[in-house]
Amino acid sequence: MVALDGPSGTGKTTVARKLADRLGAGYLDTGAMYRLVTLAVLRAGTDPADTDAVGHLAHDVHFSIGTSPERPEVRLGEEDVAADIRGPEVTQAVSAVSAVPQVRELLVARQRRIIADVLAATGGIVVEGRDIGTVVAPESPLKVYLTASADVRAARRSGQDSAAGRETSVAAARESVERRDRLDSTRTASPLRAAEDAVPVDTSELSIDQVIVALAELACRRGLLD
Ligand code: DC
Repeated sequence: MVALDGPSGTGKTTVARKLADRLGAGYLDTGAMYRLVTLAVLRAGTDPADTDAVGHLAHDVHFSIGTSPERPEVRLGEEDVAADIRGPEVTQAVSAVSAVPQVRELLVARQRRIIADVLAATGGIVVEGRDIGTVVAPESPLKVYLTASADVRAARRSGQDSAAGRETSVAAARESVERRDRLDSTRTASPLRAAEDAVPVDTSELSIDQVIVALAELACRRGLLD
């Protein structure tokens, strides 16, 4: 198993999927799970800042999340919501929802079950998030903490938004990325931070392929790749 943590805009998702593909492993996007619950909260008309209401609602959210790196499915009930969970409303509200302890408890338990199932079935999984190396799977044999400068992360986020048909200036993307980092790293429940034994990788000056080569080498050294 590889635990891949770090703030947004570090290339985490692309890196995690490509690495999983290369290792012949499964893939789990835990951020998508927090986004799914956030979408359900918004659709229910619940205030994301109402901790009790969000905690209650989270118990009734039925979703499924795929673990194939080629096409990870994301469904709320039966509905494919892969695009909806990336929208600006969800991005704006997800930090508040993911700071609610009941939400984290539920999702961490579910993440551990998925990881155990995939490991039993395929022998490997790359899991991306904010607290994988610290909370969800501290026993992971390889933990990586991706970083990148705020400028690079803002430029990447703005590029991703325009590729998805949403025009966001680099300045607005920077504000959004920094706001989310601040909220995610200062919350009480499992804040974003690197595990002590995580390998830090600064992706600012690296292409995605260079990051993959570096991580595949690390995985190889830990005996996770033939
Ligand atoms: O990786 P992402 O941007 O899709 O994550 C969305 C939000 O979910 C992020 O702002 C914080 C939260 N999150 C979390 O609290 N713990 C995780 N393991 C993954 C994501």
